[in-house]
Amino acid sequence: MKESILKDFIVFEGLDGSGKSSQARALKEWYESSGRSVRLTAEPTDRPIGRLVRDVLRHKVVTTPKALALLYAADREDHLYGENEGIADGISRGVIEISDRYFYSSLAYQGVNVDEEFVRSINRFPSPEFLIFVDAPVDVCMKRIDSRGEEKELFEKKSYLEAVRGNFSRIFTSLPEGVRYLRVDGTLKMEEITKEIVSFITSFE
Ligand code: TYD
Repeated sequence: MKESILKDFIVFEGLDGSGKSSQARALKEWYESSGRSVRLTAEPTDRPIGRLVRDVLRHKVVTTPKALALLYAADREDHLYGENEGIADGISRGVIEISDRYFYSSLAYQGVNVDEEFVRSINRFPSPEFLIFVDAPVDVCMKRIDSRGEEKELFEKKSYLEAVRGNFSRIFTSLPEGVRYLRVDGTLKMEEITKEIVSFITSFE
């Protein structure tokens, strides 16, 4: 399973506030307008394990960094293979599956305060066909997070996000062959970024 690639699986990665969720939605809409069957989901999921993760992010539940890494991985296993609408099932029915975050987030975020080898060992999941990294400087992301006016989640701190961004950049330089990787500049105009993503993906059709 380790080296396999899931066709029709598209993953968006980026820091909190990078704009990746808006881009994932825009891509979904583009697929819909071209008459394709598509679904957009996110990690942490809104399934039971994902909800527990969100409680940790909102400081309602306290646990150790390692336990949180295990929870993210358990949520991911459920997201991929859970009986009720798992990603693998959707793909087998011809649905294009888009995920807002995947195991690269675990490598980058949990990799900051948990041994990276441990994080890798619990994240042996198949790779997506397309991996889109919406990259933006931490200052830009922090401004967007602040403008939401919501209480800050666990990792939404400048120093932490600096470390995460460094991890993302390093991880994305050694992807398995066959993963179609695109880094987009998250400071560009929303529509420009979407255009770049769509033309990248359609260039393989
Ligand atoms: P995020 O995509 O920001 O969700 P939302 O916008 O709905 O709050 O993800 C929540 C946080 O979880 C974010 O800080 C990144 C972090 N995260 C990890 O640390 N590891 C993971 O494996 C995943 C999927 C997310």
